[in-house]
Amino acid sequence: MSSLQLHGIVKRYGAQAVVDGLDLSIAAGEFVSLLGPSGCGKTTLLRIIAGLATCDAGRVLVGDTDVTHMAAHQRNIGVVFQSYALFPHLTVGENIAFGLKARGTPKADIAPAVAQALKSVQLSALADRPISALSGGQQQRVAVARAIATRPRLILLDEPLSALDRKLRETMQIELRQMLRDAGMTAIFVTHDQEEALVMSDRIAVMNRGGIEQFDVPERIYARPRTPFALNFVGLSSQWAGQVTGQADGVLTVQTACGPILAPSDQGPHKNMPAGAQVLVGVRPERMTASSDLRAAAAANINRLTLPVSEIVYRGSNRLVYFTAPQAGGGTLMAELPAHGGAAPATGDLLSLSWPVEDTLVFATTPGAAA
Ligand SMILES: Nc1ncnc2c1ncn2[C@@H]1O[C@H](COP(=O)(O)OP(=O)(O)OP(=O)(O)O)[C@@H](O)[C@H]1O
Ligand SMILES: [Mg+2]
Repeated sequence: MSSLQLHGIVKRYGAQAVVDGLDLSIAAGEFVSLLGPSGCGKTTLLRIIAGLATCDAGRVLVGDTDVTHMAAHQRNIGVVFQSYALFPHLTVGENIAFGLKARGTPKADIAPAVAQALKSVQLSALADRPISALSGGQQQRVAVARAIATRPRLILLDEPLSALDRKLRETMQIELRQMLRDAGMTAIFVTHDQEEALVMSDRIAVMNRGGIEQFDVPERIYARPRTPFALNFVGLSSQWAGQVTGQADGVLTVQTACGPILAPSDQGPHKNMPAGAQVLVGVRPERMTASSDLRAAAAANINRLTLPVSEIVYRGSNRLVYFTAPQAGGGTLMAELPAHGGAAPATGDLLSLSWPVEDTLVFATTPGAAA
C-alpha cells in the first residue's frame, strides 16, 4: 500500500476547468471517499490518478514516485468501475487471471494469485462459474478481486455499489471496507451518496466544482461542516439567515427573523465575526428538541424559539417536524423527534424548539444573499 499526494491538479475541457487546482494528501492504508454532486469532477480526478486522463497542471505522487507522466499500466493502480467491466463469457477465475496475464505475471504465479484474491472476497466456491450466472453483489466482489489480485499500490473505485439495491448495497458497504482493510489497500472511493461516504470512510473529501470544500473524518464533516455547501450536501439541517449583533465571552449573538440566536464564536471557519456580518445559521435536526410546554425556563447555553408546525414527515425510526419561519424567505427549520412515545404534534401546533448553543453552526454569507 502507498500514500497518494495530489498537488495543484488542473484539468480543462475547453475553457472550463473541471478540476481546478486541487490538492489532496492520503495516507497509506487509508480509505478515502470523494463525495460530491454529479459533474463536480470525481471521475475525472480518478482518471487522472489512474493515468487514464492527463492533467493540464499539477503532480500526482504515489508513495515517493512521481507518476504524473507515467503510463497507466506502469502505475500499478487498481481500478473498479461502476459497470465492473467484467467479461461475461469468462468464468470468475478467468476474469481475475486476465488482469494478471495482462500485466505479465509469470504463468506459475497466476493460479495462486487468483485463489488468494477469490479467498479475500469469499468467492472461492464460485471460481468456475461464468460471470453471467452471478448476482450483482457477487459480480461486484469479482471486480474487486480482479483489482486487488495484482497487488496494486492503490485502488480506485468509481461508484462501485450504485447498481445494487439498497439492502445489498448496505451489506456490501461494510464488506467492501473490510475486504480492502484486510488486503491492506489504500483506497479512493467515489460516491455521490453521503450516507455511504459516512459509513465507509476514514476520511471524506467533499468536492464541489472541481475543488475540495472540506477533507476530514466523517464525524467532523457531519457535525462541523466548513461551508454552506458541505452543510447542505451531507445530511439534513435547519438553515436560516441572520446578522451578527455582538460577541462576548466566546458567544456570538445573531439576530434572525425567528428571534435572537446564540452561537459559539470560537468555532468553525468564520471565527470572530464582526457585528453587522451577514450569516447563515445551521442546526442538525437531531440536535433540536421540541416541546408543547411554551413556558420552559430560559437556560444559559440553550437556544429557544417558539414556532408553529408546518408539516410532519413519518420516517419509521423518527419523525421530521417542519416549522414555519415568521417571514417569507426566513429559511427552513426542522427537528427530528422520536416516532414513538408521547403525543405526536399536529400541523399548526405551537412548539418550543430548543437546542444547545454549541450545536449552532454559523457561516458568513455575502450581504443580501438569501438563505
Ligand atoms: N471528455 C470530456 N469532454 C468534455 N467534458 C468532459 C469530459 N469528461 C467530463 N467532462 C465534464 O467534466 C465535468 C466533470 O465530469 P465527471 O465525470 O468528472 O463528473 P463526476 O463528478 O464523476 O459526476 P457523476 O457523479 O455524474 O459521475 C462534467 O461537467 C463533465 O461534463
Ligand atoms: Mg462520475
